[in-house]
Amino acid sequence: MQKPNKRLAGQTAIVTGASSGIGEAIAIALGRDGANVVVNYLSHPEVAEEIAQKITADDLCGEAIAIKCDVSKEDQVAAMFKQTVNHFGTLDICVPNAGLQKDAALHEMKLEDWQLVLDVNLTGQFLCAREAIREFLRRGMRPGVSKSLGKIIHTSSVHQIIPWAGHANYAASKGGLVMLMESICQEYAPQKVRCNSIAPGAIKTPINKAAWDTPEALAELNKLIPYKRIGVPEDIGSAAVWLASDESEYVNGTTIFVDGGMTCYPGFTTNG
Ligand code: BGC
Repeated sequence: MQKPNKRLAGQTAIVTGASSGIGEAIAIALGRDGANVVVNYLSHPEVAEEIAQKITADDLCGEAIAIKCDVSKEDQVAAMFKQTVNHFGTLDICVPNAGLQKDAALHEMKLEDWQLVLDVNLTGQFLCAREAIREFLRRGMRPGVSKSLGKIIHTSSVHQIIPWAGHANYAASKGGLVMLMESICQEYAPQKVRCNSIAPGAIKTPINKAAWDTPEALAELNKLIPYKRIGVPEDIGSAAVWLASDESEYVNGTTIFVDGGMTCYPGFTTNG
């Protein structure tokens, strides 16, 4: 039998928005590769606890705990990182993943829905990245554990480059994330921090249920996906593990699109 590849043994990760969908898959994948994991959630503590227990109970995985935190609130983010360091000793991998959509035509979009999406999807990622970098700098290198001082892996979206009518707040938050991620890379790469993004395409999760829960909707969606299948959260989990591991040591300031080719303009296949 093939032995499990423990690329992240001895490391600790925080995954925000880890009680469902992409965040859950990333938390489980990091745990399976040996990392200790903080399963961050905002609502449904019982689901987050169950995910954490599942990771901990597996002898082949690291240990996991669930921590509640609204990532758009500075004091709550600081408290989550403090609790993580108190429990696990330090932090090596930060995956600011929590995100939401509040869709509306622009002329009908309420300021509060614009603000909420920016607060969670962009400010929340800034707050988490800032706390992570503070801990990386405080602690210093961990020779033999990782070749980098620390790793930040933002969950972005294909909509960091594909404009999205009816979702201007969401697309703007993801577009902003590109410059946040690349600026962090430029600023902290000399200290050996690695900061990258994963940009998922259409992944089967609750956030886009309307796009896949009927055969008609799924057929429409597949027109946007050259690979002709909707993604699954595990597609993102495996990319996150690789980005967190030393196998990707020289990858910094980049976005990995995990989208079945969605960003390759399938509309031009028989047109243009
Ligand atoms: C959105 C999904 C959408 C996908 C592709 C994601 O970032 O959250 O709702 O299906 O992009 O358009």
